[in-house]
Amino acid sequence: MHKPAVLVIGGAGYIGSHMVLDLLRAGYPVVTLDDLSRGHRELVPGGDFIEGDLGNPAVLEQVFSQYPIKAVMHFAAHSQVGESVQQPLEYYRNNVANTITLLQSMQQAGIAHFIFSSTAAVYGEPESIPITEAHPCSPTNPYGTTKLTVEHILRDVSHASELSYSILRYFNAAGADAEATIGERHQPETHLIPLVLQVATGERESISIFGDNYPTADGTCLRDYIHVSDLTQAHLLALESLLNGGGNSTYNLGNSTGYSVRQIIDTARQITGHPIPAITAERREGDPAILIADSSLIRAELGWQPRYENIEDIIRSAWVWHQQEAS
Ligand SMILES: NC(=O)c1ccc[n+]([C@@H]2O[C@H](COP(=O)([O-])OP(=O)(O)OC[C@H]3O[C@@H](n4cnc5c(N)ncnc54)[C@H](O)[C@@H]3O)[C@@H](O)[C@H]2O)c1
Repeated sequence: MHKPAVLVIGGAGYIGSHMVLDLLRAGYPVVTLDDLSRGHRELVPGGDFIEGDLGNPAVLEQVFSQYPIKAVMHFAAHSQVGESVQQPLEYYRNNVANTITLLQSMQQAGIAHFIFSSTAAVYGEPESIPITEAHPCSPTNPYGTTKLTVEHILRDVSHASELSYSILRYFNAAGADAEATIGERHQPETHLIPLVLQVATGERESISIFGDNYPTADGTCLRDYIHVSDLTQAHLLALESLLNGGGNSTYNLGNSTGYSVRQIIDTARQITGHPIPAITAERREGDPAILIADSSLIRAELGWQPRYENIEDIIRSAWVWHQQEAS
């Protein structure tokens, strides 16, 4: 049986491009919409590509009339915490206002299934670890607030219409597809693993450790890293569930293991054979000491099982990509 067409918005970005690849592998016809503001056309691994802004209703109307789209996966957003503090209006415009435009256009076109890239940043400073979906949401920066606002909008719109959605709250996405030549390319880069590996390729001189006096074993922050291909598999399960009439859902996506900044650097040193000089710097405002997901809900309800459960494999897959990028 033919699988229905999926629109991937933000499919020229890091996670979206991996999603396009895995949708195509799973047999879904895919259309990517991306304005290339932060993405890269050459990273889109296949399917149809439309360059355009999701905040433009005419573009959306054209896409929805041209293709028999049954579900939308929405990865397009601004996602740098520091930038969101400096430019909140730009974050509310792109992450919230543009998503409202998208939901209106979907409603007009009669498209009822929606998968949304949310984030651990919706929780803010955790009150308990690991963080379950029931943990209170109290974001500490505009980026997290924009994502939580969209979550609220989705609940309200779904209540009033046919919309069914899956909200996926990612912890730290990392790594690259094992077979394709796509990977993480943010400009500027703010994520730890690519920054560390860019020291190993000679693109940077050193890595900064923001704070080494946190209440953790080695004093540096602990984060939960999830391989990008495990993220895309979770999206495929969420998509199948929605297409089969499953109800709305909100799931954490992480490995439920925390690695410290120093552990990441040490692992990258072992994998790359590079000394990777590290410099201790001041703490950054609003960085929680520990963020670890409880992802048991999606495991229990959708049977999700991450394939990359150890950090060596995740960093090794990213290292293959970063060496290609640097050559
Ligand atoms: N990378 C992570 O660790 C992480 C963690 C939690 C949540 N997320 C969320 O996952 C999503 C994808 O993250 P990513 O790391 O792949 O980011 P990315 O910046 O690599 O990709 C985002 C893509 O969206 C596109 N885009 C942005 N605004 C657009 C617009 N108005 N119209 C059309 N296209 C637009 C960009 O050009 C880019 O290609 C984001 O929503 C992000 O907030 C990411």
